[in-house]
Amino acid sequence: MSQILVLNGSARPDAFTAAMIEAFSRGARSAGHTVTVIALRKLQIHSCTGCLMGGRDGEHPCTQRDDMDAVYAAFRRADVTVFATPLFFWSYSGLLKKVIDRLWALAEYERSELIGRGRGGALLVAAGGEHPELLYTHFDYMMQRLAWRNLGKAALLHTDSMDMQNIPACEDAYLLGRMIGGVEEG
Ligand SMILES: Cc1cc2nc3c(=O)[nH]c(=O)nc-3n(C[C@H](O)[C@H](O)[C@H](O)COP(=O)(O)O)c2cc1C
Repeated sequence: MSQILVLNGSARPDAFTAAMIEAFSRGARSAGHTVTVIALRKLQIHSCTGCLMGGRDGEHPCTQRDDMDAVYAAFRRADVTVFATPLFFWSYSGLLKKVIDRLWALAEYERSELIGRGRGGALLVAAGGEHPELLYTHFDYMMQRLAWRNLGKAALLHTDSMDMQNIPACEDAYLLGRMIGGVEEG
């Protein structure tokens, strides 16, 4: 069974990314996995300064001291990380992207804190329109370069024409959660 960390990169607590995470988590828990969700909007996390001086203090991988330390701790406990994001400018939200950048500090101890080590990754994306392809390409390439298992993706498209009080069942996200660890994509 996997320890799954979901990084929620949405700024809206009860909107579409959150609905996808809820469905994904239900699926994953029903398959026996443990799911921890971190709402990044609640944390004080600065942007990467690009210093390349991390990896010198085991407890604080980055040179900056902020809530990223809680993310590092949860990330170290997890074997699967789910990147959950609204589609912003055909990419990750800024909330999520700055956390991805800050993960680099873990690779500064030794590459294996971030690269490889049997880790898996998945992507959840809520998009106002219908073109998440660029983000998919980025995610696939990131999985390849990090040498993580690519465990798949789910999208909820056309959210801008949906009613937030009446969000449809996120069946793809639920199934991704249920199947996680069981199916591997190329
Ligand atoms: C700054 C910004 C940029 C956006 N860029 C895109 C985009 O490139 N493509 C798209 O389909 N929707 C785009 N949207 C719409 C969001 O993807 C959509 O509203 C999504 O449901 C937001 O996630 P949330 O419901 O979790 O807040 C954008 C919205 C904002 C606020």
